[in-house]
Amino acid sequence: METITSAPGKIILFGEHAVVYGRPAIAVPLTQVQATARVGDGRPGQGVRLVAPDLGQDWLLEEAQELDALADAVRRVQAAAGLERLPDLTVTVNSTIPIAGGLGSGAAIAAATIRALARHLHRPDLATNEQVARLAYEVEKIHHGTPSGIDNTVVTYERPVYFVRGAERNHIETFVPGRTVRLLVGDTGVRSSTRLVVGDVRQQWQAQPERFERLFTACGRLAEAARQTLEAGELAQLGQLMQENHAVLQEMSVSSAGLDALVSAALAAGALGAKLSGAGRGGNMIALVTEGTAAQVQAGLLAAGARAVLQTVLPAGNEVPA
Ligand code: MEV
Repeated sequence: METITSAPGKIILFGEHAVVYGRPAIAVPLTQVQATARVGDGRPGQGVRLVAPDLGQDWLLEEAQELDALADAVRRVQAAAGLERLPDLTVTVNSTIPIAGGLGSGAAIAAATIRALARHLHRPDLATNEQVARLAYEVEKIHHGTPSGIDNTVVTYERPVYFVRGAERNHIETFVPGRTVRLLVGDTGVRSSTRLVVGDVRQQWQAQPERFERLFTACGRLAEAARQTLEAGELAQLGQLMQENHAVLQEMSVSSAGLDALVSAALAAGALGAKLSGAGRGGNMIALVTEGTAAQVQAGLLAAGARAVLQTVLPAGNEVPA
């Protein structure tokens, strides 16, 4: 018997970095790219075999390194299930989410693996959104050091989320836009380590606490305004807020020449707003478009050097995406 589960990529719409410091942020699933985990019964006596065909890797849980994120996801389910030993299993992961692109690939692989294994072990209590997000958060620490928790939350819930990190408990609200939101995701082609960028922002915050607290607060306010604007379906206003968020991220020094070039190209081609998304210093940017402008903005992004452009639609209410 095999248990198969997927988790999408993610885009941070507003509030990256500031969310690590307790300010609100908004993230949405990026369903065009997915991580998939398959858990099947293994050969008797084999133990737990881990297979990542995309990376050409095949190894045993008992031989895995301490900082092996896939092994960590499996061990966390084992511990949560209170099992001293796991049955003989093969855990296979595949992903179409670009690695180190700010699209949540690590979080999605963790969430898919945790949910698939919990179900395979007949532990639905460990396969709930709350439990999967909680365990995936622990795995995220391997990738990110001090993650806010927003990435593992949005890829687990697979819905737009308004998220505030809390000391005791995170505040998580899923919501639905008042009007269809159409976004392009432009890839700079530059890989970026979230751990390094988040660590660098921390150093800057420690060196200039007042300045960075002000910048984080500005991001938080923009995220709150964006939530209302999204629910009201005021897209022109939403685009303006994206511009403002990008400017604050530039002040935090997490943008890059490549990201700025794609943001400018998107605006010049008619996007309502554009900003970097995720940790920055490479990875991806997002542009808010309409059905009418999507093709010209996509062309503008590619002409400005985007390696790839994905289009994603957040349906409004009960609408079916076009
Ligand atoms: C990464 O997708 C978003 C950051 O805010 C880090 C985090 O929230 O853990 C940069």
